[in-house]
Amino acid sequence: MSTSHGVILLGTGSSLPERSVRNGDFPASLDTSDEWIRTRTGIRERHISAAGETSASLGLVAARRALESAQLDPADVDMIVCATVTSDMMVPANACVIQAGLGCRPIPAFDLNAACTGFLYALTVAAQFVRTGTCRRILVVGAETLSRVVDFSDRTTCVLFGDGAGAVVIGPAEADGRGEHWFRLYADGRRADLIRLNGTRLRPPASCPAEPRITDEFDFLRMNGREVFKFAVRTIIELIDESLLECKLSPSDIDLIIPHQVNQRIIDAAFADLNFPTDKLMVNLERNGNTSAASIPIALDEAMRTGRAAPGDRVLLIAFGGGLTWAGGVWTL
Ligand code: ACO
Repeated sequence: MSTSHGVILLGTGSSLPERSVRNGDFPASLDTSDEWIRTRTGIRERHISAAGETSASLGLVAARRALESAQLDPADVDMIVCATVTSDMMVPANACVIQAGLGCRPIPAFDLNAACTGFLYALTVAAQFVRTGTCRRILVVGAETLSRVVDFSDRTTCVLFGDGAGAVVIGPAEADGRGEHWFRLYADGRRADLIRLNGTRLRPPASCPAEPRITDEFDFLRMNGREVFKFAVRTIIELIDESLLECKLSPSDIDLIIPHQVNQRIIDAAFADLNFPTDKLMVNLERNGNTSAASIPIALDEAMRTGRAAPGDRVLLIAFGGGLTWAGGVWTL
């Protein structure tokens, strides 16, 4: 892909609610078990927001940490893009709340919804502004409080999701060879019914399972688990094949794969069909569950902080979700 300016990652950050809900913490009335959830999904616990914690407040903390790791100040930020399906309010956008919280200058700030693929969409959109020289430093945030939109009486969905936020700062590349090499964004609205969230009458921010639920089923996230499973497995395989082919890379050229943290069984099923070493996979869903648009930046930040990934490593990012949407990206850190 020809570029006018290369685009690199300058810093990462993340933020998870302190409160952790373990599989065994779900009420008996849900009729589930730690064993069922672990063996079907790989998830042991997920973070759920407490009062005062919202997707914007988690996003703000993640953004501050990303700026710190990039050694930049809020005054350096030229744009904020926040991927979310659980913005605190319809208006203002989470990105504006984060902008105000950071104390940035008047700069463009907007939210973007591509469901669980949102962060890769936001990263790719933001990269275009750096590539053309329109902006130098952009904060890209993925922030979610899925606890607002899951039905805590529906055992087929509520055990899967968690709250959290991740952020990166991107800017122009100064050294050759680092930065974004490849991306692809896709959507197929004909399969929208597989994952649906009506979006009216949402719970207020920072709800928790203890609160009484609203009974209109269209207020909650609904999905066809089996069809989503098949879509996700196929998409992981196709995106990996496509990225290697188009970038002319082999598995040994990739240092780390960060897939959307959806479900261990989905990831295992995809990798059973791929000739790819599983030790290159970054997976943290055991502790965080599925945090939708926040899952990839949270995992990326964890990889950087724990030494799973380091500057110079080539990472493959893979996301898929409601819409349906899906996307891939190859970056050298
Ligand atoms: N605890 C106990 N039993 C459960 C639970 C639970 N948490 N959830 C479902 N069951 C029951 C079902 O009610 C059903 O019972 P029945 O046979 O008496 O009717 C039985 O388990 C089997 O149900 P299935 O839906 O066939 O279970 P499956 O093995 O397919 O697992 C799951 C369900 C985990 C949702 C699976 O379909 C899946 O992983 N789908 C992918 C969905 C996903 O992860 N989506 C993430 C959001 S979308 C995204 O991020 C892209």
